[in-house]
Parts: sequence; structure tokens; C-alpha cells
Amino acid sequence: MPSPFHRTPWTAFLESLRRVRGKLAAKLLFSERLNSWVYPSTEPAAEPTTDERYRDFNRSYFAQFYEQEKMLADKPRMDFYHAAIARHIKPGARVIDLGTGTGILAAFASRRGAARVYAIDHSVILEHAKTLAAHNRVENVEFISTHSKDLKLDAPVDVILHEQMGDYLFDEDMVVNITDLRDRLLKPGGLILPARFDLFCEPVKIRDGRFVPHIWDMNVHGIDYSCMDRERPQDPHYYHIPAADLGYVDYLLSEPSPVLTIDLQTLRAEDLPKEIRFTRTITRGGRFDGYVVYFRAMVDDDLALNSSPLDPGRATNWGYRILRTDREFLADGDVIAITLTIGNWPQVDTWRWKHVKSAGITSP
Ligand SMILES: C[S@@+](CC[C@H](N)C(=O)[O-])C[C@H]1O[C@@H](n2cnc3c(N)ncnc32)[C@H](O)[C@@H]1O
Repeated sequence: MPSPFHRTPWTAFLESLRRVRGKLAAKLLFSERLNSWVYPSTEPAAEPTTDERYRDFNRSYFAQFYEQEKMLADKPRMDFYHAAIARHIKPGARVIDLGTGTGILAAFASRRGAARVYAIDHSVILEHAKTLAAHNRVENVEFISTHSKDLKLDAPVDVILHEQMGDYLFDEDMVVNITDLRDRLLKPGGLILPARFDLFCEPVKIRDGRFVPHIWDMNVHGIDYSCMDRERPQDPHYYHIPAADLGYVDYLLSEPSPVLTIDLQTLRAEDLPKEIRFTRTITRGGRFDGYVVYFRAMVDDDLALNSSPLDPGRATNWGYRILRTDREFLADGDVIAITLTIGNWPQVDTWRWKHVKSAGITSP
């Protein structure tokens, strides 16, 4: 690598420019563009914010064919959207497809007779969506390369269509993106598809042989790791595990029930709770390894999609999260009271969880 101080004809030229006095210097002083070119800033570039970093990640992640393939090959997901669109998009409707990807939901809407579908995406995948639409003779779709917050239309739409759910529902900024579009560009009485969601957070046992204990709970052929208890990591990432493998979860220790239900038709982002308290009565005792977090999306009472790792009919392309807990065994009838505290819903490393156990009632 050449030294940054190496003097080339170009740097010599810049140097001589810097030495110029009089008119040119004055002109440079008042021309921002020229000024920054001749006097390159020595200030380090501003660090991207967490939001900006996430957007860059999201854009490049969904540009990959493999990510789109997993979603398109997810039959429960595609059947759910196909049925939802067939039921709820009426001929003549004006629709926004937020995050169109390969354009599949926009194509379904168009085939239902939508008068206009604004298919928007901030990823370069949009170029392939255009090719696919032309190849399949999909009509009435306008592809717009933009982030949703910058979308402007002349008139509001009848339907906002989206698939913005992350593994733990909130991680793709669904709430902020949809409520922003809803408040600016959806007709009064307009529809969001899908709008209703349940979030689950269930005590779980991981399959024996797959379970990885905390290091301070380990003893490997007589080598005791318990002193590592004093070295517990401060990094919150350590305490949750992204998982996609269905063989990993053994069973739930209690009956699942939503810990949070939201309706995007009416929700205000600021109304999402910062703390959730719930209880679970243990119906199948065993080692309590943490909580499994997954979601359900609902369009009608008979039309839902869920990502529970224990449901054979689950949507296949979503993973789930395990929130790890300290080692503990729970018995049938035990009750645990759980408090889930949320710093920022889209960032699971801002979630904190704790529980208090009350022993089950044992027969005399
Ligand atoms: C989960 S994919 C869904 C793709 C497609 N709708 C489907 O169902 O197959 C989400 C898409 O939304 C895009 N996206 C996410 N947030 C966005 C935003 N705020 N504005 C525009 N596009 C966004 C991503 O680039 C990605 O292509």
C-alpha cells in the first residue's frame, strides 16, 4: 500500500492550488463543493445511526436471490397472502405494496383487478421485480424505488399490503413503517393487510443433546466452570439466541397464549408497551431453558400465519428467538410471573426479562 504522504503529480497540483492567493482562494472559500475537493476534510465521517445501519443492512439483505427464494418457497406464507388478497382486494382498488421484493404480492393484487398498485422497495431487488412483471404481463403496477417514509402519492389508497414481519415480529420496523404510511396515505376506512398480530413468549425446553448451558453451569470431565459465574458477559447479545432449526425446541412448559396483540389499523407506535407482565402455569415440567419468541399474523378468524417452531404448518422461512434464562427446573403446577421490559421493540438486545416462581400446590 503506498504511503498516504507519497507525492504524486496530482497531490503536487492540489498543493499548488492550496497556495494560491487572491481571487481563486476567495472563490474556493465560497464554493462548498470545490472547497471540499481541494481541502479534503480531516474530520472523521459521522458514524451512521442504528436506524441508518439497519436500513443499509435491510436493503442489501433483501437484494439477494436466496433471501427472496426462501420467502417464495414458504408455502404457508404464500398461500396466506394469496388467500388474503383474493378475499380483500376488490377490483378497482388502489394499493400500496410496501416492500414489494420480487413483486409477488403486487402481482397477486393486480390479478385481482387492482386499478393501481404502487410497488415500492428501497432495495435493488426492485429491478428484478420490474423484469418479472413484464415477463408475466402483470398490469397496473407502478414500481417505485424508495424507502416508504419518502413515498408521496397524489391521492390516498384503499389498501396497504405488506410483509414486514421479522423473526420476533418487530425487527423489520413494521410498526413504524406501516403506521407512517397509514397516517399519510391510507384512505379513512382503508385496509392494512395483514393488520392483526400476536406475539408469543413461552417457557421452553431445548432438546437434550442440543441444549448448550451457560458456561458457569458446565463441568466437563471433572473440570468445573462454576467460577465463570463471576464473569457473566455484559453484552446483551449473549442472552438471546437466533434460531431457525425446528429440531432445537423440545417442548413448551405451559399453554401458549399471546403476550401482546396489536392491530395496525389503529395502533400508534408510541402506545406499544414498555413493560409486559404475564404468568404461566407449568403443565409439562422439566428444564426451563428460556423463552421462545414467535408470532402469529391474522387476516380473518380462519386465515392466519404463524411461526411457532412447534407447529408443523408453520411458515417455514422465519426463525425465532430464544431468550436465555438461568438454569432451573420447573414442576407441573408451578407458576411463574414474568416481566418483560422493552427498550426498543425492533432491537431484541434492549429487551430484558425476569421471573418469580411460586411453587405448585402439591396434594397432601
Ligand atoms: C420480507 S421482504 C417481502 C418481499 C415481498 N413483499 C414478498 O412478500 O415476497 C421485505 C421487503 O421490503 C423491503 N423494505 C423493507 N423496509 C422497507 C421500507 N421501509 N421501504 C421500502 N422497502 C422496504 C425490503 O427491501 C424487502 O424487499
